[in-house]
Amino acid sequence: MRIDIITIHPQLLEGPFSHSILKRAQDKGLVEIHVHDLRKWSDDKHGRVDDYQFGGGAGMVMRIEPIDNCISTLRADRDYDEIIYMTPDGPLFDQPTANRLSSVGNIMILCGHYKGVDERVRQHLITREISIGDYVLTGGELPAAVVCDAVVRLIPGVISDETSALFDSHQDGLLAPPVYTRPAEYKGWKVPDILLTGNDRLIEEWRMEQAEERTAQRRPSNG
Ligand code: ADE
Repeated sequence: MRIDIITIHPQLLEGPFSHSILKRAQDKGLVEIHVHDLRKWSDDKHGRVDDYQFGGGAGMVMRIEPIDNCISTLRADRDYDEIIYMTPDGPLFDQPTANRLSSVGNIMILCGHYKGVDERVRQHLITREISIGDYVLTGGELPAAVVCDAVVRLIPGVISDETSALFDSHQDGLLAPPVYTRPAEYKGWKVPDILLTGNDRLIEEWRMEQAEERTAQRRPSNG
């Protein structure tokens, strides 16, 4: 899989992709992540990528030309399954969307800033919009990193225990059950006895009950 991210702050994306599982996935050749500085595609001599809004109003708008230049250049080299715009007014990101994106070949992600992009970018250049939640961040970089993380960990071979992603919270509409590790008792706080019995069938039943209870309490609308 290949992911191209278009941003005016490439440095903001260095950290998330150069550590841990996302780094290992790239080292193993399971995903290529390319970060592009939008200012390099600006036709303005100062590299400006924003301008005033037509009709007046506070806040700058990201211009269409640099975005179109960058997207067209990338598209000239390969086809993209999705060209995604990160925006707080997009459809909410969820596990089914992560699953779907993890099975495609190439995706491009455009990070928004300021008041957003010229609407014609959304109308003509983008295939999907994503919000990571109903709150507004300073830009689309952290949301893009969130989407990449959720998607890349689902690519076969990225997580060593392949089955573990199948049992994630949200994967089947259920939240994950609680987990414990040693010691079996800490400051008088005990691990549930059932987990120490070694009875796989009863433990599995208990986990399912816990997952259902947790889901009913915390995500009643999933039921
Ligand atoms: N840009 C700013 N806030 C955002 C959000 N919540 N989701 C996606 N992109 C954003």
